[in-house]
Amino acid sequence: MPTILEPTDLSIELAADAMRAGKAVAFPTETVYGLGALTLDPRAIAEVYRLKWRPANNPLIAHVLDARGAKSIVEGWDPRCDELASRLWPGPLTLVLPRRASVPAEAVGGRNSIAVRSPSHPVARRLLEELGGAAVSAPSANRSGHVSPTVARHVAEDFASEADLLILDGGRSEFGLESTVLDLTARRPVLLRPGTVTLESLQSILGDVDAPVITEQGDSPGTAARHYAPRTPAALVPINGIRAALAAEPRPCAVLCFDATHVPSPHTAISMPKDARLYGSALYDALRSADTLGCAKILVEMPPSFDGLWRAVVDRLRRATA
Ligand code: TXA
Ligand code: MG
Repeated sequence: MPTILEPTDLSIELAADAMRAGKAVAFPTETVYGLGALTLDPRAIAEVYRLKWRPANNPLIAHVLDARGAKSIVEGWDPRCDELASRLWPGPLTLVLPRRASVPAEAVGGRNSIAVRSPSHPVARRLLEELGGAAVSAPSANRSGHVSPTVARHVAEDFASEADLLILDGGRSEFGLESTVLDLTARRPVLLRPGTVTLESLQSILGDVDAPVITEQGDSPGTAARHYAPRTPAALVPINGIRAALAAEPRPCAVLCFDATHVPSPHTAISMPKDARLYGSALYDALRSADTLGCAKILVEMPPSFDGLWRAVVDRLRRATA
């Protein structure tokens, strides 16, 4: 099993030493746990891809302390970036910009752009400080395609066979959903991944922001590829459609729902918060728990809205059930 470390000065130094020696280390952020390596070290980056079983063309997010750190790896930092960073960093917003030539192609899946964000979690920040402000590229610390980790134990479970891996324990991730990803490589900003920083708040700062349209039937094709997924087959059911869906399902199911009284035995209800932020922070733990019940299927009741914070929740639910 990997080693889970309480975040002391000593363990953060140990983690930074391991990273300087070319290793990947798991650390907490306010969104989900990350598996990080130094952005400018191609061999360390290769280690992240190997550990994650991640396809080499799937680019990574670089984590920095602040706008200055971002400017050391991106080109084309403009007034829009200053505005966003001054209002929303540190926090769960990732900006995609052209990359500097000094950034190895390995760290960005061969692209000409790089995604960058400044995490607010104090342990992530202490680690970045210990590294002298060097950028740390970190995907979510789960095996590729699986549900992102929101506590240290989730990371240890996904990487159970990696005895050398260090995991800094920063408690439960505050938001529990991956950061909002905004592409600023063109004149019109494009929302690539919804998150806790909402489309509406980005539009209020930037004006127009392009985003896929979400409907009851699903969003635009291709944008909801299966990802963030539990191992048990999962399906979305309409609001108040739980009883009907269960009536058609003789085998025991796990049901993420808003009202457990709609779930008769032999099925298992997992009650979800009605508040979008609380729902988001509970979702991945709920999917991982549902996965351990040995049920035939996981059913998830559709949230009441597709706007604001619910947009990110619905996006992850669609991917988990695609
Ligand atoms: O909240 C988060 O963003 C977490 C924590 C650890 O910071 N990280 C995370 O990383 O979710 P990952 O690798 O699981 O997701 C990165 C997302 C992917 O959808 C990837 O395609 C996109 O960001 N991305 C990264 N670099 C990009 C680039 N240069 N252009 C377009 N999309 C990019
Ligand atoms: Mg991920």
